[in-house]
Amino acid sequence: DRLNLDEQIEILPYDKRWEFPRHRLKLGVQLGAGCFGRVVKGEAVGVKDAEEMVKTVAVKMVRSQTNVAALEALVGELKIMIHLGAHLNVVNLLGACTKSIIKGELLVIVEYCRYGNLQTYLIKHRKDFVNQVDEFGNLLSDAEMQQMGNTMNNRRELEHQGEESQVENNSSESAGETGEGSKEPESFWAYQQDPDTNVNAIITMSTTDLISWGFQIARGMDYLASRKVLHGDLAARNVLLADDGVAKVADFGMSRNMYYEGNYQKTSQGLMPVKWMAVESLTDRVFSTQSDVWSYGVLLWELFTLGKVPYPGMEANYQLIRQLENGYRMEKPDFAPNYIGEIMSGCWKLDPNERFTFSQIDEKISSQMESVV
Ligand code: ADE
Repeated sequence: DRLNLDEQIEILPYDKRWEFPRHRLKLGVQLGAGCFGRVVKGEAVGVKDAEEMVKTVAVKMVRSQTNVAALEALVGELKIMIHLGAHLNVVNLLGACTKSIIKGELLVIVEYCRYGNLQTYLIKHRKDFVNQVDEFGNLLSDAEMQQMGNTMNNRRELEHQGEESQVENNSSESAGETGEGSKEPESFWAYQQDPDTNVNAIITMSTTDLISWGFQIARGMDYLASRKVLHGDLAARNVLLADDGVAKVADFGMSRNMYYEGNYQKTSQGLMPVKWMAVESLTDRVFSTQSDVWSYGVLLWELFTLGKVPYPGMEANYQLIRQLENGYRMEKPDFAPNYIGEIMSGCWKLDPNERFTFSQIDEKISSQMESVV
């Protein structure tokens, strides 16, 4: 019970049932890369009850086959995934090729999440965002949104490739000035071609989507917590989006994926995602499910700022830690409903035991979602 993470991983078994024949796996383009690992797209024949079907998958591997520490970290992540079991809101294991591990090759096959990581997605779709929160932090219902006559949508500047621009640069605050209902509703949506089907799909991102992702991530984290797995690096960059708006927690088990090293600060402990870390993790190196809850609060802030870097204008240094200890916290983002702001505050209590739990966060969001529908 008191073993540290490395020791816990050491005693976890590798279950041969996950072994997947290497010759049935074809590797493709790179999806992402970090300091130690990389992820490529792949095609697997007959993986995980798929009979003889070809399935698109993501394959995690180490970057350098001579980096033993990186290999051990990936073995650790594999073992954690086997122990964890499946949940809709985590990136699930599909199989592993371990036969060539002596030569430094280990391939961990996981679900492919077509829309990539949440942070990149938020930034990319900022211009498509439909805000449903008024200036008082109240979430408007669909009916209220209709009554507003789309005026809130006009804040988005549409500059789509190949489309005549129906909306001139409206100054964002001048609601009503543009005349309600004068535009085709279609003109507000962004179109994107689905790379697999070549169908032009309507892509929008609304407050409701942000809430749904926040909820799903809490669900995935509640599952991790119930299986006694710490994440250790929960952030929008480590959440992936799959079909039908499904959000999946990825890269758990402290195996940090350093896609963008700017988010990680060099410390005596190696690279640390300081702006996502709980105060006690920064000061005493203590990680727990309750420190994951702190990070979840920062993730909510990322969601409702559409992918901004936390603590804008501040450096991730000891002064930030000092200010956090003294009670300084980020404000509720304008796009966040008030109750989401309250959840953030509940994630950022100095005393880990006073913070909300993931199941409480689940309940809070789902009760609000019910009251709106
Ligand atoms: N990038 C990193 N992991 C991925 C995954 N599982 N699916 C899609 N893109 C990814």
